Order: sequence, then C-alpha cells, then structure tokens
Amino acid sequence: MPHEHVRAFAPGRVNLIGEHTDYNQGLALPFAITEGVTVRAHALAPQADGRRLVEAHAADLGESDEFALAEPRPARGWRAFVRGTVAELERAGYPLLAASLRISGDVPPGAGLSSSAALEVALCLALIELGSPRGGSAPRTDAERTDLARLCARVENEWVGARTGLLDQLASLFGAADTALRIDFTTLEIEPEALPLGDWRLAVLDSGERHSLASSGYNERRAECARACELLGVASLREADARDVERLPGPLRLRARHVLSENQRVQDAVTALRANDLPGLGELLNASHASLRDQYAVSTPALEAAVERALASGAAGARLIGGGFGGSVLGLFGPSVPLPAGAREVRPGPGAHVIGE
Ligand code: GLA
Repeated sequence: MPHEHVRAFAPGRVNLIGEHTDYNQGLALPFAITEGVTVRAHALAPQADGRRLVEAHAADLGESDEFALAEPRPARGWRAFVRGTVAELERAGYPLLAASLRISGDVPPGAGLSSSAALEVALCLALIELGSPRGGSAPRTDAERTDLARLCARVENEWVGARTGLLDQLASLFGAADTALRIDFTTLEIEPEALPLGDWRLAVLDSGERHSLASSGYNERRAECARACELLGVASLREADARDVERLPGPLRLRARHVLSENQRVQDAVTALRANDLPGLGELLNASHASLRDQYAVSTPALEAAVERALASGAAGARLIGGGFGGSVLGLFGPSVPLPAGAREVRPGPGAHVIGE
C-alpha cells in the first residue's frame, strides 16, 4: 500500500568557499543550512477520464498550478521547477502518483541561498516517497542521492534555462549538522569536514538585489570557461596549467585564473579549518571575494556595499556567495563582534529527508 500523505524537507545551502568551480570540475566547500523548503504531498484519485493530475500550491506566494502528470508543459517561475521535477522523475522511471502538493519554505528566493535546489530536492523526495511502498524512504544510498542531484540539475538546465552545476543539489542532499562538505567535482567524491566555529558565527547579508541565474551572466561565464578549455585543449579547467592560462586572451585569462586560484583556496580553507584557524579562513573569504569581483566579474555595487557593511561591522572575512550578480554575502564574525543590521546567522544543518506523514 503506498502512502497517502508524506512530507519532505530539503535545505538551502551556503557555500563557504569554492565559487564557480563546480561546472569546472573543481573543488567547493558548501554546507546545508537549517532553512529550507517543505513539501507536503498527498495522493489524489485519477480523474473520471483516467488522467492523473498534479495540483501544486505555493503557500508563501498564494499561487497554484495544475497539470497532467503524464505531460507537464513548460512554464515560468516556480511552476517551471515543479513541472520540470515531475517530468524528470517520470522520465527516470520513478512510479509517481497523482498528487496534491503544498510547498512552503523559509529560504528567501533569489538571495543566493539556493531556494531552487531546496525546492527541487524536496519535491523529489516527497514524490518518490509518495509513490513508493511503505518504508521506501528513497534515496537510501549515496549513489541514489548523487543521481537525484543530477536529475535536479537537469530541471535547472532544461526547464528553467540555468546551466548550473551540481553544487547546490549535492549540498542539499548530503548536508549534515555542524559539517561542511568538501566536494571534488571531478570524481563527485564528498568528504565531510567538521566546522568547529566555537564562539564564531557565520551570517548572511542580503544585498537586496534579486538574482535570476537564467537571466544573469551565469550562462555567459560558463560559456567563457568552455571557450578557455577549447583554446587550452583540456577537457576542464581542473586540468589547465597556470602558465598556459596566462596566454589566454583578455577576459578568458581572468576567468581561468579565478577558477585555478579558487580551487587552491578550497584546499587552504580545509587546512585552516583543521587547524582551527578561523582568522585564516576569514582571509581566504576576502581573497575569494576579490577574485570573484576582479577576475570573474560577478559582483555588483549592491554586493560590494553588503561586503563593506560586513567588514565595517568587524567581520574577519566576507564574500559574495552563489552565482553572483545579486543575492547574498557571507560574513565570518569573531566572538563578541556584532552582526550588522539585517544579517542572519547561518548554521550547518541536516541534509534533505522525509519527515513522515
Ligand atoms: C549557482 C549554481 C551552482 C554554482 C554556483 C557558483 O549557485 O547553481 O551550480 O555554479 O552558482 O559557485
């Protein structure tokens, strides 16, 4: 007997360091945050004509959608994520039921905290669980989770038009309390790294500028990296030699420099964390931001102002997080350093899971 009701939660993420490295087969160090998206699903009987419908309600927006499970058509905004996730799960052969979905969450959309990955992953878990025999609790293995991350990335790529990598989905699926994840995007190996913050705090500041990955320069940056690889004759920038990079033309040289140096900063951040060197981690955050601004060119005046506010308040380091072109800034604050107005503390929390009925 399949379930009649299920609930699933998937977190957003903060990337401690390692930005724009995922689609370059590099390294990143994200963690799942305690905020996320919850999807409550219940099974619906098929229509009189046999059609199986999906009804979705976005509680925070007060908006709804309805479509046939067998043939979701493209849509815009949050509906694209729901329809795309259903379509990709169907295509992958998951047994889905007609369903009513109620979506709610506490990750602000467009703030660079990956509300979209949280939405896709929570939908996947709820729909898979609803359609599976009792006790299914998919996904059970790391391989299943990695496959789901890929499925969610196809939703972004093909239904939303953002050519994102796997960073956000892997962070949401593999997160764990008090833990960051060192992800190697060449092998998709994920190593948990303890985040021993003690009296220190990590906090995000919203730049106030919404970003949409599909329409921002994100896809253009990806294309630039692909072009740099072509010119260098390598499959990914992970394989590029730093001396060869210096011979690339204008902007491509800067983009590749960022990626190579950012991979190194991820390694250095892991070393700093293991040595409990939080001031050292702060310096790496500052260096990452400077590279994202000057070499990768994904900062904006609103993001610069948010970084300034964090540093003026006494942060040991601050940087833009996510794709850039708007969204949020992450600051690392030492003991008794006040958080700037409007900053929200973020903590590493558990990864996506089924909550039950
Ligand atoms: C967005 C994308 C990720 C990643 C980051 C930049 O969050 O969804 O795949 O590329 O930008 O690091």
